[in-house]
Amino acid sequence: MTAVDLDQKIPNNVGLASDRKLQRALESWQPRFLEWWKELGPVEHQDHDVFLRTAVSVGRDGWANFDYVKMPEYRWGIFLADAEDGRTISFGESRGRPVWEEVPGEFRSDLRRLIVVQGDTEPASVEQQRHLCLSAPSLYDMRNLFQVNVEEARHLWAMVYLLHAYFGRDGRDEADMLLGRHSGSPDNPRILGAFNEPTPDWLSFFFFTYFTDRDGKFQLASLAESGFDPLARSCQFMLKEEAYHMFVGAAGIGRVVQRTVDLMRQHDTANVAPFGGINIDTLQRYLNLHYSVSLDLFGAETSTNAANYFAAGLKGRYQEADRDDDHLLHSSLVDVPCIVDAEITTRPLPALSALNTTLQHDYISDCQKGVDRWNRTLEAAGERLVLPHLGFHRSVGAFAGAPVTPDGRIVGRDEWDRRATTWLPTDADKQHVRSLMQAVSEPGKMAGWISPPSAGIHQKPVDFNYVRV
Ligand SMILES: [Fe+2]
Ligand SMILES: [Fe+2]
Repeated sequence: MTAVDLDQKIPNNVGLASDRKLQRALESWQPRFLEWWKELGPVEHQDHDVFLRTAVSVGRDGWANFDYVKMPEYRWGIFLADAEDGRTISFGESRGRPVWEEVPGEFRSDLRRLIVVQGDTEPASVEQQRHLCLSAPSLYDMRNLFQVNVEEARHLWAMVYLLHAYFGRDGRDEADMLLGRHSGSPDNPRILGAFNEPTPDWLSFFFFTYFTDRDGKFQLASLAESGFDPLARSCQFMLKEEAYHMFVGAAGIGRVVQRTVDLMRQHDTANVAPFGGINIDTLQRYLNLHYSVSLDLFGAETSTNAANYFAAGLKGRYQEADRDDDHLLHSSLVDVPCIVDAEITTRPLPALSALNTTLQHDYISDCQKGVDRWNRTLEAAGERLVLPHLGFHRSVGAFAGAPVTPDGRIVGRDEWDRRATTWLPTDADKQHVRSLMQAVSEPGKMAGWISPPSAGIHQKPVDFNYVRV
């Protein structure tokens, strides 16, 4: 296992000290990163001790490192999963050949683009979430938010390392631009639409980490298959951090659901809003919104770029190696959803051009698992949450702008517009949720709209002082 050099200015397991030029370049990017963090990271608590986990090695034990850290002093570093001996490219036209340690010239601009688009989402989510610390429902939750934030910032480091190490001058320029674009900026926004929307409240944050970070998981998982080994190994390690972000979302919504069910029982009503809870129909509308905008992140159902990336061995499918096919997709077909004569149907298209559909399909089944878990809690109250139809409220692909209902029927535009308030968060929903966002900063205390977690962090009790405010 590659040891992590923690004494360096930039902790790393890539032997940075032996490449002076690269080291100097990254060390000159580091203060600009810190400036960005202080300016656009969490708006408060930068000087407070936060009980954070810091990766100290890429192995299993490397995660057991929890301590109080002031966020600007977090040890952001460069960690690649260990190289796999004799790894070969597992898909596309170069299948079976040894993986690339350097960027193949003909794929240089495609690879750079993939890394830049991935890299851009990482600081974007930190920017989107920067105000949430002012209204954290508990110190436990505030700590989790900060953990997610510092790790997203580390993911930026992961991509910036690749740009600096393998793409020369233009890579360094791209790394600078990753700090220059800002979420929601009118002049210089982040690349993907969903990353320019603010995350205004904690309910949105939990749904964002559940649905949008999960898109991240699937993008990273397909890049973790890449024939460009440094990218694959970067993403393999990022996925370990990402798993925690999805836990925060899944458990967060689970706790909101639990609290709602408890209040329903206690007051014998489905309308728990007057009692400081969040009604199931409000939860469903938030779910509909976050799920539909996250589906858009997969791009159009068919894509020449995706086909080219696959054929070139740059970006595979989710769990590519475990798939039982030729990994070339020359002749296989997949059913791609579409609208024909105002009917929702599917048509068989070459699997190679429909890779976005395949990835999205895998994402949807992953999303369903958490919903099933929430529904086990809701069963007691005779309620359930559902994922809306794939075509509902879409802005990208075959369903873009189509008036599809959450249960998958095409209706008239007027009807859709009229009923939209029953499907998407209303002003009243947002106002109510906003009214609940009162910071709770006494250890162990929870806001009234969410249940306590079943356990604390790293064997600490729930009432541990996770952020020394
Ligand atoms: Fe990330
Ligand atoms: Fe994440």
